[in-house]
Amino acid sequence: MIKGKVALVGSGFVGSSYAYCLLNQGIANELVIIDVNHKKAEGDAMDLNHGLPFAPPMSIYAGTYADCKDADLVVITAGANQAPGETRLDLIEKNSKIFQSIIGEIMKSGFGGLFLVATNPVDVLSYATWKYSGLPPERIIGSGTILDTARFRYMLGEAYNVDSRNVHAYIIGEHGDTELPVYSLADVAGRPVRDLMAQGVGPNEQQLDELFVNVRDAAYHIIERKGATYYGIGMSLARVTKAILRNENSVLTLSTLLTGQYGLEDVYIGVPVIINRYGIREVIELSLSDDEMKKLHQSAKVLKKANQSIPV
Ligand code: 2OP
Repeated sequence: MIKGKVALVGSGFVGSSYAYCLLNQGIANELVIIDVNHKKAEGDAMDLNHGLPFAPPMSIYAGTYADCKDADLVVITAGANQAPGETRLDLIEKNSKIFQSIIGEIMKSGFGGLFLVATNPVDVLSYATWKYSGLPPERIIGSGTILDTARFRYMLGEAYNVDSRNVHAYIIGEHGDTELPVYSLADVAGRPVRDLMAQGVGPNEQQLDELFVNVRDAAYHIIERKGATYYGIGMSLARVTKAILRNENSVLTLSTLLTGQYGLEDVYIGVPVIINRYGIREVIELSLSDDEMKKLHQSAKVLKKANQSIPV
């Protein structure tokens, strides 16, 4: 039975933005906020509770790892984030050590639900969470390229002057510099982007390439302006949480363990999956072009190499 209880580990910019989304969208019944700085967790819980008269009922409190025991979902945003110019993979050493301790504490509580990992490098830390927790891989979910896909849909929507909710296009691969756009299957209101380009409608080939580069590098552009990103990822995490708690069987591009799909295995990487209350129900294997498949394999190669530096 789903309780609707979420445990949030990390109440920094991303975690508190996520918590604010959960409250305003009425997604969870209960939220325990856990942070190494307990006073910050308490302050966020108090601040959020004071908005409750304007939102659906929700129990929000600061707690400890012991409170993870009966949570349906533990969302981890704790860790260092990129400094201007730093890549996500530069954070591996710092954040995997933090994860080793966090996952151990959570598993000690008797937790048996799902993990949603957001901390970067998210694909590597999702792999680490799977290893450290000992849980079946389908119960360890990384935010993967859900935000990149949202950025892609937003920018394509702007380019074609169409509501981004009517644009279907995926970014897959590493949530990072080796991610890739699946232009071969992208459509705007059911019309393939490639066909629109051939008809001279919307962006040309070079403009589509530039659009993807802006998607891939969006975080760098935001970090150099405001120091961090948190609203887009906070809303992305809320979307995943809703799909889990409401057992939606939604299709989202998340980081999951491949076990032969796309000719890849033993790597967490962003691909379209069907997600529900039990975790990742199914990996969707898209019919990628040869160039897209080559780029996905290159991305997986970078991640598998990065996984080797996870402390065991
Ligand atoms: C983002 O893409 C930094 O991974 C974070 O916004």
